[in-house]
Amino acid sequence: MSFLADRLKAIKPSASMSVVQKARDLANTGRDIISLGAGEPDFDTPLHIIEAGKKALDEGVTRYTGVNGTPELQDAIIAKFKRDNDLDYTRDEIHVSCGGKPVIFNAMMATVNEGDEIIILAPYWVSYPDIPLFFGGVPVIVNCQSTENYKLQPDQLEKAITSKTKWLILNSPSNPTGAAYNWAEIKALADVLLRHEHVWILTDDIYEHLVYDNFDFNTIAQVEPRLKSRTLTMNGMSKAYCMTGWRVGFAGGPATLIKAMTKVQSQSLTHTAAVSQAASIAALNGPHDFVASNNTIFKERRDLVVGMLNQTRGLTCATPEGAFYVYPSCSDLIGKKTPEGEVIKNDEDFVTYLLESEGVAVVHGAAFGLSPHFRISYAAATNVLEDSCQRIQRACNALKN
Ligand SMILES: Cc1ncc(COP(=O)(O)O)c(C=O)c1O
Repeated sequence: MSFLADRLKAIKPSASMSVVQKARDLANTGRDIISLGAGEPDFDTPLHIIEAGKKALDEGVTRYTGVNGTPELQDAIIAKFKRDNDLDYTRDEIHVSCGGKPVIFNAMMATVNEGDEIIILAPYWVSYPDIPLFFGGVPVIVNCQSTENYKLQPDQLEKAITSKTKWLILNSPSNPTGAAYNWAEIKALADVLLRHEHVWILTDDIYEHLVYDNFDFNTIAQVEPRLKSRTLTMNGMSKAYCMTGWRVGFAGGPATLIKAMTKVQSQSLTHTAAVSQAASIAALNGPHDFVASNNTIFKERRDLVVGMLNQTRGLTCATPEGAFYVYPSCSDLIGKKTPEGEVIKNDEDFVTYLLESEGVAVVHGAAFGLSPHFRISYAAATNVLEDSCQRIQRACNALKN
């Protein structure tokens, strides 16, 4: 009898977390390493949010709250959905957890039975396929094409849906490509979904506020209100509010689903930290001008990185609408040899070579289900990004036929 649960056999540890750890370990040995692996803003949490957390602690906000957070936080989330997305939710339609990832985990645990299919779009955020696997779900991977800017096309969605489909997971702007769906693109997918009433939609909007060039963000329940009764609209504090370590994510959805997710959480996480909830109320209800100023910097960095990568031998890189990632193709470098004579057979070999030769840590495309690519997180200082791109250029120039 094995001690570890069989269900763990199908699950991989998070690839992006592994890259960050590998980069940290190498840096600890004294090597000059730049890590562009983490999906985390390099900006600090805005001061007014930190102050709200400190004040809450001083006032004794240190005890259990309700499983779904305090009524004040629920109301701040309800106001956010109305303000940003024109969506109306009531308190019993709001779920709060310890980050966006646990929201997805709770939703899958509450709904997925053995053999249920979950449509996931490649390239995907690394956790989407693995979370349903815990519960016997079957990830159905649909490959999105670079020619379509990595966006799901309505005919692909139609083909992927079967009688066993339980969920479609959408993510816009996307990790790892940064691609975001406009209103018409969402509507075209919604039209397909209207024809398949058994399919639920989990939309991961965690990068909602990180969009550039006046991109107009929309979410599916807003674009097609008839889908709201089977949509879980997920969001969180981690990215736009620079609050990754505070661990607050939330979702709006039908009360029956929220009740089931709350049941899961009542026997697992209980709730997210009271102090993080207080800080999140200040963040959601407070000034948002820091978002625009951070975005100005993110956009400059995006343009710098895309420009330098497109000047690099063997790489091509699209300009994404949002998030803080780019997803260049390294297909022209597959088959080339390193100065040590090793053949670059795939994108994993390429990122290993980048780390070993130039000390730049990025995540290989295979981890996101679409090769040969790699993901760069440009949430790093401009001079660091410039240095990284120069190192990448040197590494690519050193490859031989
Ligand atoms: C697409 C996407 N969804 C969800 C999350 C999880 O965010 P959190 O840190 O709030 O759990 C991430 C984090 O990288 C992400 O990229």
